[in-house]
Amino acid sequence: ESAALLNAIIQNAIDGIITIDERGSIETINPAACALFRYSPEEVIGKNVSFLMPPPDRNQHDEYIKRYQHTRVPHIIGIGREVTGLRKDGTVFPFRLAVSEVAYSGRKIYTGFIHDLSKQKEAEEQLREYA
Ligand code: HEM
Repeated sequence: ESAALLNAIIQNAIDGIITIDERGSIETINPAACALFRYSPEEVIGKNVSFLMPPPDRNQHDEYIKRYQHTRVPHIIGIGREVTGLRKDGTVFPFRLAVSEVAYSGRKIYTGFIHDLSKQKEAEEQLREYA
């Protein structure tokens, strides 16, 4: 059945996947995203997604979502961006964020795809040191 297949794909995805409602509350998080941010699902579901990022975005993310909803001008949706995530232990890591808007049973949700860049960035740093 296709819902079970979709769930298996999400649960086993390499990239992190988080879904939020129209106000920014986390509704689902897959194991890859839990591992990247080092939280269990219970610790994040129902919280605002902004608690997974450092300032200044942390304090402005609600506004980013509202502005998009009023203007319909995307800054990340359909474009992507390199952003910084905040782990449970307070450390930060770079990742590539892709966001899409999904109409789901009569309402809007947003799905965020999180591609960790920390290994790649470290390698780049090392190359620069040896250059
Ligand atoms: C917009 C940062 C995670 C959904 C934005 C913008 C920034 C940002 C900087 C607006 C950029 C601008 O207006 O110039 C971050 C950071 C994240 C994060 C640092 C780290 C955890 C997420 C996740 C989702 C999400 C996981 C969805 C599940 C959105 C939406 C918008 C937005 C819906 C408004 C639409 C748009 O600007 O295209 N975010 N975000 N964000 N973000 Fe996030």
